[in-house]
Amino acid sequence: MKIAFFDTKPYDKPGFEKYGAVHGIKFKFFESMLNEDTVELAKGADAVCVFVNDSVNAAVIDKLHEMGVGIVALRCAGYNNVDLKHAFGKVHVVHVPVYSAYAVAEHAMALLLTSIRRIHKAYIRTRDFNFSLNGLTGFDLHGKTIGIIGAGKIGRVMANICRGFGMHVIAYDKYPSGEDIEFVELDQLLKNSDIISLHCPLTKDTYHLIDEKRINKMKKGVLILNTSRGALIDAEALLAGIKARQVGAACLDVYEEESDVFFNDNSGHILDDDTLARLISMPNVIVTSHQAFLTNEALENIAEITTENLLEFQKSGMCKNELCYHCGKDEKCKAERMKKCF
Ligand code: NAI
Repeated sequence: MKIAFFDTKPYDKPGFEKYGAVHGIKFKFFESMLNEDTVELAKGADAVCVFVNDSVNAAVIDKLHEMGVGIVALRCAGYNNVDLKHAFGKVHVVHVPVYSAYAVAEHAMALLLTSIRRIHKAYIRTRDFNFSLNGLTGFDLHGKTIGIIGAGKIGRVMANICRGFGMHVIAYDKYPSGEDIEFVELDQLLKNSDIISLHCPLTKDTYHLIDEKRINKMKKGVLILNTSRGALIDAEALLAGIKARQVGAACLDVYEEESDVFFNDNSGHILDDDTLARLISMPNVIVTSHQAFLTNEALENIAEITTENLLEFQKSGMCKNELCYHCGKDEKCKAERMKKCF
């Protein structure tokens, strides 16, 4: 099998080279992101392997289909960058549903602790031999309420971590399940949480879930954590909320317009995105560039599961991790088409 691997970073290669060698899969690594301008690079490949900011839109799908590329293998869980409806009947789409919920939840907690204990400020001060504590006063997490939006795999790990700190955990989920977490309505969560952490997927429903209206329903001084997808938050509204002191702090591992900026060294350039520049300039905002997934364990799992997905397809023309606009994960629907999505 030949795979065109887009948006390659140095940390991607070791795992994929290792599992590729074991299973006879040849990855051709490209630094470019997949989009309409670069899709030709996939010529001759059986599949493309893509990440969160590659653009798998209708035009790209049509071109892949025309070139005989049959599979889009996402090496991530989220798939908001893929036009699944358009892909149906043309290219199969597979993803890695779970690789390490711990990686993401632990990063969310790392951001939270950094923010409330001002570690990012202290680190810079002590490197400059400035040992003053003025302005570094934090607050205890113990006894505070965290509202988790999206109590799935990552949200639930985050809930457990927070319980370890003696926090009160409440959650809102469109499809609540299980009794291990206290579910509340969204408005109740917004009103009662000292900290709000986003762990739901980006869908039409959740686009700008956190907007001006909802920010104004939150507790004054609320801390907002987003390690899910940037467009869950209206960044302009967040900025306004911070300026109005309604939002006490924000920790963002994802950003609405991240695809042109994140994952790259732009240190020698002038940032065109004024909203991002303004957010980063705020003393109470911490931005990491979609780093939450980046642990050794997660990278290893991503490479292993992506390779298995490709092998499963090669052997049987089916894959348990296929994403299908038509039937979702409804096995009954697949069964009607001899277990295949198409
Ligand atoms: P999951 O599918 O296990 O959980 C998502 C939860 O959100 C589910 O319980 C679902 O019912 C809920 N949900 C769906 N629509 C909702 C809505 N409209 N309102 C409220 N809740 C809703 O997914 P998992 O593995 O926990 O991942 C969550 C998200 O984390 C992914 O969609 C992805 O965007 C993001 N992510 C970010 C990473 C990073 O590096 N920053 C890495 C991996 C995932």
